[in-house]
Amino acid sequence: MPKSVSICVIGSGYVGLVAAVCFAEMGHTVTCVDNDEAKVKTLRAGGVPIFEDLLPDLLAKHRDKVEFTTDLASAVERSEAIFIAVGTPQGDTGAADLSYVEAVVSEIARHIGSYKVIVEKSTVPVYTNEWVSRVLHRHGVDPKFFDVVSNPEFLREGTAVIDFLHPDRIVVGANSERSADVLKRIYAPLTDGTYYDQPGALPGPCSAAHPARVIVTSAQSAEIIKHASNAFLALKISFINAVGNLAESVDADIEDIALGMGLDSRIGPKFLRAGLGYGGSCFPKDVAAFHWVAQKQGVNFELLQEIRKINETQREVFFNKVLSALWTLRGKRLAAFGLAFKGDTDDIRDSPAISVIKKLLEAGASVTAFDPAAMDRAKDVLPPSAKMNYASDMYEAAKDADAVLILTDWKEFASIDLVKLNQQVKFPIIIDGRNLYKPKDIEAHGFTYVSVGRPASYHAQQGKPRGLAS
Ligand code: UDX
Repeated sequence: MPKSVSICVIGSGYVGLVAAVCFAEMGHTVTCVDNDEAKVKTLRAGGVPIFEDLLPDLLAKHRDKVEFTTDLASAVERSEAIFIAVGTPQGDTGAADLSYVEAVVSEIARHIGSYKVIVEKSTVPVYTNEWVSRVLHRHGVDPKFFDVVSNPEFLREGTAVIDFLHPDRIVVGANSERSADVLKRIYAPLTDGTYYDQPGALPGPCSAAHPARVIVTSAQSAEIIKHASNAFLALKISFINAVGNLAESVDADIEDIALGMGLDSRIGPKFLRAGLGYGGSCFPKDVAAFHWVAQKQGVNFELLQEIRKINETQREVFFNKVLSALWTLRGKRLAAFGLAFKGDTDDIRDSPAISVIKKLLEAGASVTAFDPAAMDRAKDVLPPSAKMNYASDMYEAAKDADAVLILTDWKEFASIDLVKLNQQVKFPIIIDGRNLYKPKDIEAHGFTYVSVGRPASYHAQQGKPRGLAS
């Protein structure tokens, strides 16, 4: 059996691009198709259109193994497996908009002349697999020429390459043995461990002794695994944030509580970081889409709505902290540390940082922001103006600020030179939406420190504000 599989990946966004280069890294021949000519041109010239650790290195390493093209027809014809990794944005009802998937499937249908495995890599609702098959039938494709498989991704932005090559699990939702075997062949270097022994293999949690694990399920189960996993992680975050609000009201400390809960191996410590809540391109969209699926199936899953509501409230909770620390906002000058929805990415989609800044501007404050990667993107939604400024580093952003707000968990923001910061600001107040510091450490540097789910520590000269801010 040939080890290398000819793979076509349709879509060169976060998921498609990472999958394409990682398949090449695993020894396969890959064609990556996108209908955006400018993007294909950039990729062909060795450019990297997204900010993702290790991606530039792998793209450079495999320039001869990954072909970028707009020509879907010939890519499909020469490939055994076709991965669909196009966008599935949220529609008005909360349901995923599958029109890009359908358009791609209709086009694939015109070029199938031999057996192909069509793989859903985009996040899609249950039964998409059946719809893809139906579209192929409608276009007259002989059923013996294809199988449709669901192979969801669990990549986090910022660590996507390592997540791909060292996965916790590989889920293959296949309704035929033949197609499951093709997927098993594709992932064999990770599941038999040969990749990890290869010279130059990227290190991570898996090894030849502990290779990646594959589970084969029905297509429907695989589709639900993806939605349920993301919804469960979002649930953990909303849960800890709700506990945090309770903790704060009784002068308890959410960091101690999360530690105490997370040490229970049945709960685990991950995704119990209280703060501004989740954002990004996946959790908000997937929680809504999963709720839509449950509603369609007549299943009561209102818990999903509560996850979303708590997450939205968390941004309000933070805004009120700013208000209560500063009393009024009109004319105040605030330094915003962070714009991306989390550290290590330039992605600002549904970023809590952006929505908090918008609210501060509406309330009459002026904001100077700094983010190590997301400033260019942020300028599209928060254009520079008299009230909205961008600085080239944290200390410049903090100059003469009435308060410093930490909005994104970038590593840089967890190791601020507090002496230097104190010299820059007008008033030494830090309002931390990501709990990056121990209150005592900050207090020792003469700051008032307000964080999430913990008692605020007020600098002696400033004192604790009493009464409600307006
Ligand atoms: C997520 C999933 O983790 C991944 O498996 C899926 O494929 C895509 O969606 P991503 O959106 O890149 O990945 O980010 P992730 O690291 O999961 O964080 C999501 C959001 O939750 C961020 O806004 C982050 O700041 C927030 N978060 C995460 C918390 O607020 N607390 C936590 O404890 C963890």
